[in-house]
Order: sequence, then C-alpha cells, then structure tokens
Amino acid sequence: MSRKRPQNGADSRPNPKPLMDLSTAYWGSQTLFTAIRLGIFEGLANGPRTSESLARTINTQPHPTQLLLKACVALGLIKEDSIGFSNSDLSETFLVPGTDYYLGNSFRYADDLFSTWGRLQDAVTDGKPAISPETYLGGKKENTTHFVYGMHNRALAIGGAMTKIVDLSGRKKLLDIGGGPGTLSCLFAKRYPDLRAQVLDLPDIVTVAAEIILSMGVSSRVSTIPGDYKKTEFPATNDVVLISGVFHRETEENCRKLMMKASDALADGGMIIIIDIFTDAGNAGPLFSTLFGLNMLLTAEDGGVHADIDVMSWLSECGFENMQITPLPPPMPHRIITGYKDVVLGKA
Ligand SMILES: C[S@@+](CC[C@H](N)C(=O)[O-])C[C@H]1O[C@@H](n2cnc3c(N)ncnc32)[C@H](O)[C@@H]1O
Repeated sequence: MSRKRPQNGADSRPNPKPLMDLSTAYWGSQTLFTAIRLGIFEGLANGPRTSESLARTINTQPHPTQLLLKACVALGLIKEDSIGFSNSDLSETFLVPGTDYYLGNSFRYADDLFSTWGRLQDAVTDGKPAISPETYLGGKKENTTHFVYGMHNRALAIGGAMTKIVDLSGRKKLLDIGGGPGTLSCLFAKRYPDLRAQVLDLPDIVTVAAEIILSMGVSSRVSTIPGDYKKTEFPATNDVVLISGVFHRETEENCRKLMMKASDALADGGMIIIIDIFTDAGNAGPLFSTLFGLNMLLTAEDGGVHADIDVMSWLSECGFENMQITPLPPPMPHRIITGYKDVVLGKA
C-alpha cells in the first residue's frame, strides 16, 4: 500500500538522498571521462597551473574549463591552492599517462560504453545486446584491437594476483579457452618455465594475441589456436584448462557444455581454473557484480553474471572434485574457482 502524506507532524519517510545520488551518478562518471580525454591530468602533472593556462594547453574555453576543474576538485581528483590546480594523489598515481599504474586505458572501455548504457531499456525489453558483439570481436579492426589490448591491460593486473594464488607446479600443458590476448597464459608461462600453453580464441582475436605473446617474450611456449570454443575440437591430455572471463558471456547450458569439453580435454588429475566476476548466492550482490551483469547484457548475446556457488555445483555435476573458491584482493572484483578431474588417479 502506498504511503500517504500525514496531515500534521513528522512522518517516518526514508531519506530520498540515495535516489537523488543515483539519479545523477553519471554526472561524476562523465566528468572523469571528459577530464581523461581532454588530457587534464597530464596537463597538471608538473605542478600547479591556473585554469587559463591549462585551457590554452588543452585547447578548451577558459570558463568551462574552470567549471570542470572545480567539479574535479569536489570529486577529489584535483587540488586547488593559491597558485592554481594540481593533481590529487589519486589522479597523480592512476591518471597520468605513461606512469606505472596508469588506469586511463581501462576506464576508456567504460567511457566507450557510456551511450550504450543509455539503451538499457531496449536491451531489457528486447532481450538483445545494445551493441553488436561482432564490432569488437573482429568486425571492426580498430575496435577489435582496442578490445584485445584493453583485455591485456586488465589481465596484467588480474594475472599478477592470480599467479600467486594458483599453484601450477609440475603441470606442463595448459589450454586457455577464450584466452583473448593470451596474457594470463603468458604470465603462467613466465612463472613456470616448463609450462606450455595454447590460447584458443576467435581468428581475429588471436591475430592480435600473437603480437602480445611475442611482446611478452614467451612465444616459444605459448601458441594460439584460431577457433570457436563452441565448435572447435579441443586438444587433449592437458594438465590445466583455464576459462577466464568467458562464463559471463554464456548461458548456464553453454557453461555446462564448456565444462564437459574442458573435462574431456584434461588428463586425469587435470585442473580446471575458472576466473570471472561472480555474484553471491541468489545473484543480488555484490553491487558491482550485479551491475556488471547488466553491462554484459548490453554487450553480449547471452551476457549476464552467474553466482559462484552455482558454477561450483555445475562443476561438481560434471565430475570435478576438490573445488575451491578464492577472491582476488580488492579492489579486483574477480573470483577464482579451481577444481580437479579424477582426483584419485591424479595428483590434486
Ligand atoms: C572477456 S574476454 C576474456 C579473455 C581472457 N580469457 C582474459 O581473461 O583475459 C572473453 C573472450 O572470449 C572470446 N570468445 C567469445 N566467444 C568466443 C567463441 N565462440 N569462441 C572462442 N572465443 C570466444 C572473446 O573473443 C574474448 O577474447
């Protein structure tokens, strides 16, 4: 029943502030994206400057530039003192191009999808992604290259943590299904000198992956297989099958099929590693994971998000044993699920 306005006195209405904040949350996102695109953090990297001086460098109008800078100050992205504006520690660390921890390229992906999110209603109504996945999976060369290098940047961060969590000692042959840039395989190969890996992905993706594998210095042990993981027969007798960032593109039925194919591709005692953004049981949290599910709905034919506990039960029904789930350290939202085929015969 709807709540009525009381005739007099205070009532117990909830505070509407969360709704007001949500309704304007994109103002902050677009302020960040615009500042990155205009080169504001790069322009402020060498100390305080006035807004007029910065506007001349980045070729913008003085008054709007000042409004943007003041909003950045309020967002904690920029500091202001009597001399002018300079980067906050946060921006100096993560938003100045060319520095060790630069995250601007990763935020570019969210920026690229800004207008796509405006079509969420269509995606929910029609059940179709708002953009064609083919555009970044080979259809358009430039988008595909951006997508693969964007995945590479993300995988470098995930992979550093992953190789500390997952122990592949003694394992020699890894199959990386939907391996994208091949970065995770390369990081494992660097850590385990006896490990060889094969990265299976769509033909236009592995063309870019081959460049990345070469640049990571492990091309003698990491190779690519152009193919479609739904149709291509997987090579057999692997010690490890890695499936990272793939399940959020697939239905439960397709995930189960991939698990069965992975099982067939593993030797006894072989290890399956599934890395993804998962929700908790019931799919209603964490918040980032639920919103990520919508992001995937917008960008992939069968996109969404699965609960980690559901994926573990599918693995168990496919015959995997000794499952374990490990979250990556915050702020990374990913979780790693590992399991083993035929533990008794193998070495798990
Ligand atoms: C989010 S990316 C993950 C890449 C990589 N595994 C990682 O974690 O860095 C998903 C990958 O699945 C690949 N993919 C999607 N559909 C595929 C299919 N039918 N066959 C093979 N690869 C596919 C995409 O090209 C993309 O590289």
